[in-house]
Amino acid sequence: MFFRKSIIALTGLFLCLFLIVHLSANSILLLPEETARELYNSYSTTLRESPIIKIVAYVLYLSILLHIVYALLITLNNRRAKSKRYTLNQYRENSSWTSQNMGLLGIMILLFIVVHLANFWARIKLGMGEGVGLDANGHVDVYEVTYSLFQNIYYVLFYTLLMAPLGLHLYHGLKSAFMTLGFYHKKGLRIIAKLSLIYAVIMAVGFGIIPFIVFFK
Ligand code: HEM
Repeated sequence: MFFRKSIIALTGLFLCLFLIVHLSANSILLLPEETARELYNSYSTTLRESPIIKIVAYVLYLSILLHIVYALLITLNNRRAKSKRYTLNQYRENSSWTSQNMGLLGIMILLFIVVHLANFWARIKLGMGEGVGLDANGHVDVYEVTYSLFQNIYYVLFYTLLMAPLGLHLYHGLKSAFMTLGFYHKKGLRIIAKLSLIYAVIMAVGFGIIPFIVFFK
């Protein structure tokens, strides 16, 4: 059990770092159009062409996979434990709605990631679906892909609404990761809980607001 939890914690922390970089990159979309297009497309090209980033991308895919597989195993294990009455009572008393529903929140985020990868990654990296044009500098026009997707209000709502479960999942997940990895200092944990909340709010609001701003830009 400890091994499984540690894998979830370590991969989760790595995914949290990825989200900071990803949100910073996506904030470029909010700059004035010409600057945003040039920066976003050249950043995206640099990422795709750098051998080091390619390795980091494989670590990212592996982390997502391991995080899901081990989280599923733990959720199934908890379900079995929950069916025992004593464990159920103790469980309810000691944990929040979010901690009891990390599996459900995780499934909602998985749904988001599948749709998101189909929208961007499959088109840009795998060349699937509608073709993607080049900008004036000859870079793949990822900016255009993003802007045309967020002209559709259903996608805007989908991207924005699913940031609520992401925020809850990140808040609980980040706190728990530190505890799983053996961080038990009482005052330290209170600070980590506050930082986790700030991190989760920035991620959920940041990612959630970008599609709306793009829609109205
Ligand atoms: C405003 C919201 C978002 C926008 C506009 C956005 C945009 C993009 C784009 C353009 C790519 C493809 C990059 C490329 O290959 O050049 C991408 C990849 C990706 N995004 Fe997002 N993203 C958003 C939110 C998220 C969120 C919330 C998550 C995770 C929960 C996420 C996870 C990923 C992953 C895992 C990849 C694949 C990375 C890779 O292959 O290197 N994205 N995103």
